[in-house]
Amino acid sequence: MNFLKTTLSLGAGVLMAGLMPATLAAEVDEAAATALARSSGCLKCHSTTRDKEGPSYKKVAEKYKGQADAQQKLVAFLSKESKVKVNGKEETHKALDSKNESDIRNVVGWILTR
Ligand code: HEC
Repeated sequence: MNFLKTTLSLGAGVLMAGLMPATLAAEVDEAAATALARSSGCLKCHSTTRDKEGPSYKKVAEKYKGQADAQQKLVAFLSKESKVKVNGKEETHKALDSKNESDIRNVVGWILTR
């Protein structure tokens, strides 16, 4: 029975690793991520699949695909207000309404697995 359990969890692990970065996927609490994104006002400008004022999170995930420091970069970007260029004009980009790094990492993991 123990043998069977090990084989099954190994199998699932390999399958997950093949689909997306296992560390990201394993950590994401989707409900918590959407709740914080919504309460921080992110979803006014971003949708997961459709470009609004900001790029869709699917596009962001594609842009950062395969970049080992993607999570670290985006955690820094969303921990405090940043300057971004929108149509050549500098604008202030909002930070997440949380100082809790694991909450911020969760939202970043969620974005990167869209
Ligand atoms: C007023 C509209 C607006 C709001 C609100 C907003 N964003 Fe953005 N966001 C943008 C725009 C515009 C860009 C593209 C900036 C650029 O091209 O450099 C962007 C870019 C991004 C990126 C990609 C950064 C990159 O390096 O490519 C992420 C991730 C992101 N936003 C997440 C969020 C999150 C999470 C929130 C909520 C805290 C949020 N945004 C709130 C407009 C917004």
